[in-house]
Amino acid sequence: MSPDQPIGIFDSGIGGLTVAHAIQQALPHESMIYFGDTAHLPYGDKSEAAIQAYSIKIADVLLKMNCKVIVIACNSASSAATDLLKEYVGKRAHIINVIDPMVSLVVDQFSGKRVGLIGTKRTVQSNVYAQKLAAIDTSIHLQQLATPLLVHMIEEGFFDNRISHDIIAQYLGDPALQNIDALILACTHYPLIKKEIGAYYQQQVAVLDSSEEVASSLKKYLTDTGLLHQGLPAPHKFLVSDYTESFEASTKLFFGEVVHLEKHRLWE
Ligand code: DGL
Repeated sequence: MSPDQPIGIFDSGIGGLTVAHAIQQALPHESMIYFGDTAHLPYGDKSEAAIQAYSIKIADVLLKMNCKVIVIACNSASSAATDLLKEYVGKRAHIINVIDPMVSLVVDQFSGKRVGLIGTKRTVQSNVYAQKLAAIDTSIHLQQLATPLLVHMIEEGFFDNRISHDIIAQYLGDPALQNIDALILACTHYPLIKKEIGAYYQQQVAVLDSSEEVASSLKKYLTDTGLLHQGLPAPHKFLVSDYTESFEASTKLFFGEVVHLEKHRLWE
């Protein structure tokens, strides 16, 4: 592998652009190829087998484009397909998911504490955060709740308004999430409602989003392996399996600026 190769990033849609944005901030010399599988979103309601099949197809696209790293910027895909992708990709590229950097942060900062988690049905049902935390530190008590409405709410532009306040309050008031010291945002759409969630808790609960942790773990990997790119990066590419103008308009929410989406079919 060489420093000139791009970083591949994928998600079920455009939510993973929150991770791409954090990567761009932390690693401005790297070139990114982002793939949003908009033809198959949401992943959160899909079976593990379906998400695994999509993830392999996307990995093939990113490998063909010569990516040195593949970042799984989606919790649902990270929980369903990380092990399979590592085996499939082998030495061709390094795989980073959004779960392991968050597990390290929680172990470092919340040992012995009660930690809540909200995410898609797929992520919560997989129980992967609980398993990974318990394997390192059994004193962390994880309390999980699937919050499937939030992805649709955010994609429709409902945040920081009366409707989003009510939906967030209804979910966070659930008995499953009481008396927690921190809350893991286990979905790459949720950074957009991080402030609202912090306000709900009156800043008394730490609200944890993984995008910056993922970017720093990527930076550490590239530095340790001598794969950090210097100088001007090649232009980023943003590919989607199904193009609509509304997807393109929504990129501003997640990436901070509108980016041009190119259609790229997964299956011929
Ligand atoms: N971005 C996905 C995640 O982090 C959620 C969206 C979806 O369900 O496809 O789990």
